[in-house]
Amino acid sequence: MAQALESIPNNVDLSGDRRLQRALEQWQPNFLSWWREVGPEGFQAHQIYLRTAVSVEPDGWATFDYVRMPEYRWGIFLAPKGGERKIGFGDNYGEPAWDEVPGEHRNALRRIIVTQADTEPASVEQQRLLGGVAPSLYDLRNIFQVNVEEGRHLWAMVYLLQRHFGRDGREEAEELLARRSGSSDKPRILNAFNEPIDDWLSFFMFAMFTDRDGKYQLSALAESGFDPLARTTRFMLTEEAHHLFVGEMGVDRVVQRTAELMAQGKDPRQNGAVPLDVIQRYLNQWFTLSLDLFGGEVSSNAADFFAAGLKGRFREDDQPEHKALSETYRLEVPENGALVAQEVPLRNAMNEVLRDEYVKDCQRAVDRWNKTLQRSGVNGLSLRLPSRRFHRGVGPCATATFDPEGRLISEADYEAREGEWLITERDRAYVKALMHPVHERGKVASWIAPPNKGINGMPVGYEYVKPPDA
Ligand SMILES: [Fe+2]
Ligand SMILES: [Fe+2]
Repeated sequence: MAQALESIPNNVDLSGDRRLQRALEQWQPNFLSWWREVGPEGFQAHQIYLRTAVSVEPDGWATFDYVRMPEYRWGIFLAPKGGERKIGFGDNYGEPAWDEVPGEHRNALRRIIVTQADTEPASVEQQRLLGGVAPSLYDLRNIFQVNVEEGRHLWAMVYLLQRHFGRDGREEAEELLARRSGSSDKPRILNAFNEPIDDWLSFFMFAMFTDRDGKYQLSALAESGFDPLARTTRFMLTEEAHHLFVGEMGVDRVVQRTAELMAQGKDPRQNGAVPLDVIQRYLNQWFTLSLDLFGGEVSSNAADFFAAGLKGRFREDDQPEHKALSETYRLEVPENGALVAQEVPLRNAMNEVLRDEYVKDCQRAVDRWNKTLQRSGVNGLSLRLPSRRFHRGVGPCATATFDPEGRLISEADYEAREGEWLITERDRAYVKALMHPVHERGKVASWIAPPNKGINGMPVGYEYVKPPDA
């Protein structure tokens, strides 16, 4: 086992920290049994063309090679320390960043880290059956890439817990392997991570919208005054970019296939593709589910985390002012059947401030999909991002019913039209019926266009996944 530990790529001087080594020695076999039990179903002996993080050098931080997933080298990397870092926001603005956990913020930091960490194994569990029905070898490789890297993100967070939180941290690390996505007695912490993902359209929507929430959460933590957390999350973001690409371009290719058929006057439903209204409902569902992950619009927790210097804003450096004490944020909230304006102290609106950045980014992707529609020859039809008031389960808008344009409507109207706006059982059954494995080199399923280019300069038809004995 000691030898196995030495083979963990890292830049945290693992070999010089006996206590940490012992903790990881205990945790590592449990991680591997977790992977075997609820990681990707099948393909464990296949050779997958995977990227592995091996250093933090901007050029050459990763290598690409054929790897069997259980032999993936899950490493521990922190972005390099850039001189004497200062806390960039909140009450302690300008003071030196912390290398160790400050006692008064211990509980809050542990909660922040555990909540983030829990999403990493959860998504692997959610997606475990999808390899069997992958639309191409290219996509099969991509989902496994995402899965092993979410596994590495779990390692990254477990490192923080074990290195900085003593016995509590070790217990939390075990709990992270004990909870299960969708379980009734030990579910994952956040709701969206308990939703089943049993078709590839859901997977692409998840990687587009839900993993993108992760990008914004990680970006806010990359500003943290707790320096090891800031440096860990900064490095995670380099891998995360590929996950978001997989989601955004996956949806784009589904849209392209549908659009090509429509432009030829053919019905996508009769030709093994996904009708545009079904794509819109999947978009509505996953976007709104992911909006909830940012938390309530008005939040004293968010204010406390900002004040303490634990969680900043997206690109805090670009903000004109870093204490956020005198400004307010204007919200519209439902009250007695009408929308009313509310001014809240900016610190209490930090969840909403982060959500603003996220919504902008999602709109950019929807614009791209609409360009694909037009380019393929579909005119007069487009996809739309619903209002952030629609279909919310968290915050003031969860207390009323809205249509996708954000207009207050009666509960009866909402129920009558829900089937136009959100995924129906019929949609689910239809999309699921399209899921057939296409594991032949260079071939792609009927419901999705091939990608424009391959991975790491390889051709689209490259053998991204090889059978065990090839
Ligand atoms: Fe992740
Ligand atoms: Fe991710």
